[in-house]
Amino acid sequence: MSPAEAKKRIAELREQIARHDELYYRRAQPEIGDFEYDILKHELAELEKQSPSLAVGTSPMERVGDDRLEGFATYRHRQPMQSLDNTYSEEEYRAFHQRLAKLFGREDLAYVVEPKIDGLAVSLTYENGRFVRAVTRGNGEEGDDVTANVRTIHTLPPELKATKLQPAPGAIEIRGEIYLTTAEFQRINQEREEAGEALYANPRNLAAGTIKQLDPRLVAQRKLEIVLYGIGYCEPAVADSQSEFLALVKQWGLPTVEKFWPVRGIDEAWKAVRELDKLRHAFAYGTDGAVTKLDSFALRRDAGSTSKAPHWAIAYKFEPERAETRINAITVQVGRTGVLTPVAELEPVLLAGSTVARATLHNRDEIARKDIRVGDYVRVEKAGEVIPAVIEVNLQRRVSECRPYQFPDKCPECSTAVIQIEGEVAIRCPNLYCPAQLTRRLDFFASKSALNLEGLGGIIAEKLVERGLVAEPLDLFTLSTDKLADLNLGSDVEPRIFGEKNARKILEAIERAKQLPLARWLLAFAIPEVGEETAHDIASLHSSLKEVASSSILRDYVELDQLNSEMLRNSPTTKENKAKSIEERNRMRPDYEKYKSLADALGNRLIASGLAKPAASKNPPPRNAVATVGPVASRSVLSWFSSERGVRVLERMDELGIAPTSSKHANTASPFFGKSVVFTGTFSTLSRNEAQDKIRALGGNVAGSVSRKTDLVVAGPGAGTKLNDARKYGISIIDEAEFLRLLTVR
Ligand code: IVH
Repeated sequence: MSPAEAKKRIAELREQIARHDELYYRRAQPEIGDFEYDILKHELAELEKQSPSLAVGTSPMERVGDDRLEGFATYRHRQPMQSLDNTYSEEEYRAFHQRLAKLFGREDLAYVVEPKIDGLAVSLTYENGRFVRAVTRGNGEEGDDVTANVRTIHTLPPELKATKLQPAPGAIEIRGEIYLTTAEFQRINQEREEAGEALYANPRNLAAGTIKQLDPRLVAQRKLEIVLYGIGYCEPAVADSQSEFLALVKQWGLPTVEKFWPVRGIDEAWKAVRELDKLRHAFAYGTDGAVTKLDSFALRRDAGSTSKAPHWAIAYKFEPERAETRINAITVQVGRTGVLTPVAELEPVLLAGSTVARATLHNRDEIARKDIRVGDYVRVEKAGEVIPAVIEVNLQRRVSECRPYQFPDKCPECSTAVIQIEGEVAIRCPNLYCPAQLTRRLDFFASKSALNLEGLGGIIAEKLVERGLVAEPLDLFTLSTDKLADLNLGSDVEPRIFGEKNARKILEAIERAKQLPLARWLLAFAIPEVGEETAHDIASLHSSLKEVASSSILRDYVELDQLNSEMLRNSPTTKENKAKSIEERNRMRPDYEKYKSLADALGNRLIASGLAKPAASKNPPPRNAVATVGPVASRSVLSWFSSERGVRVLERMDELGIAPTSSKHANTASPFFGKSVVFTGTFSTLSRNEAQDKIRALGGNVAGSVSRKTDLVVAGPGAGTKLNDARKYGISIIDEAEFLRLLTVR
C-alpha cells in the first residue's frame, strides 16, 4: 500500500469506526456485528502502527466509545472506566503474557480468567455500604447517571451485607455489566413486534436501550439483571487481589460471575479459556469472550496502562458461530400496519445448537445493499446468539443464472401496488382493506397488551376475516352471539363450528374491553410507531380519544422538532456549515437566531407546563427540551387520526358509545392518585392486568418492584420477596379485599 493509499484508508476506517461507535454506544442499534467491528479496528490499529507519521489527529483507537445521551445528568467517575484490548488469536493472547512475564521476570504469574459478559458497563457507588449511584461508562471519564433505572433491578441489594469483622468501605465503585436474559429479550421483542416497533437485534442492545429510558417506570417493566466483577475507586482498600475481591462481592450479596478460574501461567489460563467456551452457553448472560486479568493488585499497578486499556488484562473473544447455507426462496410477509417484511427461507442448517430455517432480511434496502439473491449461498450468524441474520453472500458459490432479487411492487396478499413513505425504509401495502393486514390487526387488537380478548387471536381472527364477519376490528362490537357461534373454523367439506359457549365467552371479553383505559385503546388501533410505552405516554397527556385526535400537545412536539431542525440547518457550528464560506455563514446567522429563539421559547413553555424535560447540553448543538413523546410518533398519531381510517374509527367509537378515558383527569380524591403501587402474589377477583388498569385510571402508577419510593404494596397469597422488601422499608401493605374497597373511594 502506498503512503497515499494508507493515509486514505486510515481516514476511511476512522470515519467508519466513529459511525459504528455512535450506532453501538449511543443508539444501541448497530448495523454490523461485533466481529466485523473488531476486524475494522484491527486493520486501523495495524495501519496506525505501521505508519505513525500518517496517523495524525485523534484516532478512535485512543478512546473508549461514548454512550452519553441527552436527558441524563452526567457524573464523573472517581476512577476512570477503561476498556480492554481484545484479540481473536491464541498467538496474540500468549504474547500478552510474554510481555508481562518479561516485565516481572517470571512465567508462573497468577491470573484470574472470567467470562466476558456481553452487556453494558456500569459503575455502582456504595457509600458506607449503601447503594447511592449508578453511572454508565460514558466516555470513560464521565457517564450518565442512571441510578433511578438501576434501582429497578431486583437482584441488586440497596445495602451491602457487611460484617463487623469486614465492614463496608466508606466509598467504593463496583463495576459490572447490565444485561437481559434471552427469555426476557424474546418477551420484549415479541411485544415490540406486535406493536410494529423496530426489533432489537440482541439482548445487549435492548439492555442498553432500556437503561437509557428516561422513565424508570418503563425500565421496571423490563427485567434487567446485573453482574459485578470489577473494582474502581475504593477507600479504604478492601482486597489485594481480584480473587479476594470476587469472593467479597459474593459475600456482600451482590450478583457476580457464575464461575471464575484462578490459574498460574499462560498454559493453565488458555485451558480455562477453552473450558469457559464449553460452559458459557448455560450461563444466564450472553458471553462473547474470556477476560484474563493479573490477580495481584500490586502487580497491576506495576504493569501500568495506556489511556484506553490496562496492560494487565486482555479479552480473548470467541468468534461468533456461523454457518453457510442456501437461500431456497424469499417470502414477503405483510404486517398489521401494512409493512412488507422479506424473509429468507433457508436450507435448514445447524447453528449454535439449533436448526435455522428462516432469517429475516429486514427490508428492501437491506437485500439490495447485500445483493442477496434466491439461490445464493449465504453466511448466517446468530446475532447475540438469538435471531439468525444473513451476514453476507458467498459470491464464489454464486451460479450465473442467479438474478438480482426483485422486491414485489404489489402486495403479495391483495395485489395492491405498494408504496414507500418518504424518509422511511419500509415498503407498505396502502390498502385499508387488505385481508392480511386486517387479520394481523384483528389479532393485535385482541392481544393481551391491547384489548385482551382472550380466545380471539390466530385462526379465529383469520376465519372472521375470511368469512366476511369482520371488515375492521371495531366490527367485533356488533357481532351477534349466533353469528359468532356459527363461525366455521374448518372447511366447507369438513366444518368445525365455533359453538355457543365459546362465543359467549368472547363476547363477554368484548363487552369488558369497552371499559379499558385510553392507553390500551391507543395501542389496539395499531397506529404506526405507537407501542405500549408510547401509548401510555400519550394517554398520560390526554384524557380522551378526541383530545388525542386534535392534540395541540402533539402538534407542539412536531413543531419543536421542526424548529430544532431548522436551527440546526442554519447552525454555524455543524460540520457541514463549518465547511462553508464566511459570507454564506453570515447570511445564515439571522435564520439560525430566529429558529433558535423560537425553539427556546416553545421548549421553555413545554418544560414549564411539565410536557417536556430540559435537555442536557452536552451533545452539541444543544437542544433545549426533550418532549414526552418523540416527533416521529407524534407525527404518526396526528396523521393517523386525520386519515380515512382514523376518522372512521372515531366515528365508529362514537356510534358504539365507547369513550375510553385516561388518568389525566383522574379523581384526585382517590387514595391511589399519584401513588406508586406494587402487586405481589395472586388475586381471586381481579387479574393483574385489570388491577393495574384500575390503578392507572385512578391516577396511580404500577411499578414492577419495591423500592423506597413505593407507596403501597397489594399482596395476595404466594407473595414473596416483594413483600419482604415492603416490610423492610416500612411500606403500607394491604390485601385484596382492602384494595377492592379502596377502589370505590371517590
Ligand atoms: S474488566 C480496566 N471483566 O468488556 C478493564 N470487563 O471490552 C476493566 N466486560 O469495558 C474491565 N465482562 O465493560 C472486565 N469480566 C469482565 C468483563 C468486562 C465484560 C466489559 C467491560 C469492558 C469491556 C471491554
